[in-house]
Amino acid sequence: MLHLNVLQEAVQPEGNRNFKGLSDKISTVCRELEVPVVAKEVGNGISVDAAVRLQRAGVRAIDIAGKGGTSWSAVEAQRAKKQGQQADTAFADWGIPTEEALVNVRKALAEIPLIASGGIRSGVDIAKSIALGADIAAMGQPLLAVALESADQVIESLVGVIHELKVSMLCVGATNLAELRAAPLLRQTAGF
Ligand SMILES: Cc1cc2nc3c(=O)[nH]c(=O)nc-3n(C[C@H](O)[C@H](O)[C@H](O)COP(=O)(O)O)c2cc1C
Repeated sequence: MLHLNVLQEAVQPEGNRNFKGLSDKISTVCRELEVPVVAKEVGNGISVDAAVRLQRAGVRAIDIAGKGGTSWSAVEAQRAKKQGQQADTAFADWGIPTEEALVNVRKALAEIPLIASGGIRSGVDIAKSIALGADIAAMGQPLLAVALESADQVIESLVGVIHELKVSMLCVGATNLAELRAAPLLRQTAGF
């Protein structure tokens, strides 16, 4: 998994800002490695342009990791403040929202496996992600929070998430994830 965390590196005092020739380097990694390469953002969203270029470079799946959950630029600002440095909060809200990145990348690339992440907080969020075109979904912060308590709490939390996903599927009449993917999307209209 290659993390494309440009903003985080840019705002991190000790960040690695050498982004030169990155597309070619990603192509080389994809060609040389014997395992499939996945590319991911870390909470600022993969754009359509980036997704197309990543697929051309040989990436086999993309985690769109959009805005809406953990903001690493906000984390870096907090870290700087704790270290007595100036906290730059200008980029705390930067990025493509998760649902927007997901819908647009799926529209542009019909086949590539997509992971939805960035603000996924429940099985309902996972169900929505899959209906919007993701193949799977991922969570960062909520699992860290329970992992700090115990392994059992992580399991308990995931059992709850799976239950929420199953109930969501029941309510839309989807017996498997493929049917959930094909579930009709309704937009709330004025008057409801
Ligand atoms: C403390 C922390 C550490 C993380 N470390 C990794 C990691 O090592 N590898 C990875 O693929 N994702 C990691 N993530 C998850 C992604 O950065 C994730 O896309 C981002 O946090 C947004 O998702 P969230 O809102 O669910 O946290 C981490 C998340 C957190 C909160």
